[in-house]
Amino acid sequence: MWPVLKQRPFLDRRARLCAVSSPEPVRIGERPSGVDLRVNVGTVSLKNPIIAASGTFGYGVEFAPIVNLNRLGGIVVKGLSREPMAGSPAPRMVETASGMINAIGLQNVGVRAFVAEKLPKLRQYETAIIANVFGHSIAEYVEVIRVLEDAEGITAYELNVSCPNVEHGGAEFGIDPVLTSEVVQAARRASKRPLWVKLSPIVGIIGLTAKAAESEGADAVVIANTYPALCIDAHTRRSRLGSTTGGLSGAAIKPITVRLVYEASRAIQIPIIGLGGIETSADVVEYMAAGASAVEVGTAHFVDPRASERLVGELEMWCRDENLFEVSNLRGSLQS
Ligand SMILES: Cc1cc2nc3c(=O)[nH]c(=O)nc-3n(C[C@H](O)[C@H](O)[C@H](O)COP(=O)(O)O)c2cc1C
Repeated sequence: MWPVLKQRPFLDRRARLCAVSSPEPVRIGERPSGVDLRVNVGTVSLKNPIIAASGTFGYGVEFAPIVNLNRLGGIVVKGLSREPMAGSPAPRMVETASGMINAIGLQNVGVRAFVAEKLPKLRQYETAIIANVFGHSIAEYVEVIRVLEDAEGITAYELNVSCPNVEHGGAEFGIDPVLTSEVVQAARRASKRPLWVKLSPIVGIIGLTAKAAESEGADAVVIANTYPALCIDAHTRRSRLGSTTGGLSGAAIKPITVRLVYEASRAIQIPIIGLGGIETSADVVEYMAAGASAVEVGTAHFVDPRASERLVGELEMWCRDENLFEVSNLRGSLQS
């Protein structure tokens, strides 16, 4: 079953922020009239800017019994590889002071099983379906896209470039603008669908990798993936994760990633999707003010599996309280 984080500060913080941003209790499904939540990410029109992030929402369909998937702006499915992957040894997740570190090891059913078994159910919902794609070589990325190209019901691809490139000694594609260019160029040629490139946050200047993706024909960039991290059990002096290091996500990374969105927005013209530590409508507004057209919600699902759906309602209420009738007007609204 879905592991639910026990951490209290997470919940306390959310409760506090909700109390500030929306004094009335928000009921899921309530739709105040007059707020236009629609946003565009290039040619992709979303009914609202809230998208469930890859790896934190399964293949979407698992959540259908408890979440109204039709309410979401989109769903990014678990990262897909050419062959099924078993992932890393346990333990795979550890909670930290304000977030968590995961080392899932990109476990997934493989692109062919996704197309045959998951996608037919998922495409029945009225929400954008984004396929997250990764590989350990450029050829693998291209092969995954080729399989998906023949499948119906996919709105866009999200290219996860935070992946070790076996042809370059294991260096991540996303840490170097040249490697980023190469993988985006190959993916662009292989794909007729909109291509979103999910950037690594581990870069000196995010504008350089964002620009590399834009120059090779990406339709949008997604900022960002998790931050490499290590959590040690002081008593045993062993890592708390089976594969020693993992990726930090959740509230801890939000201010760092909001800054990355802001800096990228000054370097590129294509839309940005922001994610990292979003738990409340105020967090969504921060990302949009920094320059994001839409956002993704990840770790918050481990506290509340309905987090994305709840945020759609909370954002609507927030806009109404602020007399803001088009949510898209928030984009780049940071005041100097
Ligand atoms: C358990 C877990 C699994 C993840 N799996 C993927 C994945 O398969 N592909 C990917 O691009 N990102 C993956 N991510 C990264 C998230 O999509 C997101 O970029 C990151 O967690 C930051 O957002 P958050 O702080 O809202 O979680 C994963 C994150 C978590 C916590």
